[in-house]
Amino acid sequence: MEKRRVLVWALLVVAFSATGIFAKGHTAEERGQAHFDNKAFAGGSKSCSACHPGGSGLEGAGAKKSFSLMGSEQGSLEGAINFCIVNANKGKALEVDSPEMQELAAYIRSLGKK
Ligand code: HEC
Repeated sequence: MEKRRVLVWALLVVAFSATGIFAKGHTAEERGQAHFDNKAFAGGSKSCSACHPGGSGLEGAGAKKSFSLMGSEQGSLEGAINFCIVNANKGKALEVDSPEMQELAAYIRSLGKK
């Protein structure tokens, strides 16, 4: 009886893994990290990680309410991200509620929790 229960659980885990529920690269943070490392993200020509390797220096950004970037004041994390996309990556600003922006923001917020 006990053995059978273990077997059922094992089968369930395998089944869920196969459907991707436990698979890597599927959380918002992980997708955000992929954008962060992508040179061509948002039509730009540089990755975020070229200047912020592994997110270093951004650990506090997720908790901040205002940003002062290269002489420009930004009132949100999304504003700071768009500022870097346009001025540093030479890409196109994202809609604040787009999935890509939300994923990038989720990745940056996760840096402060590591
Ligand atoms: C050409 C270099 C460069 C690139 C590429 C770049 N950044 Fe930045 N970033 C900076 C500089 C310089 C600052 C301002 C100084 C600082 O606070 O570290 C900054 C600041 C920030 C901040 C605010 C940090 C804070 O706490 O005030 C965020 C958030 C940020 N960048 C995110 C990104 C994201 C996301 C990308 C990719 C879309 C990106 N950056 C690409 C150079 C770059």
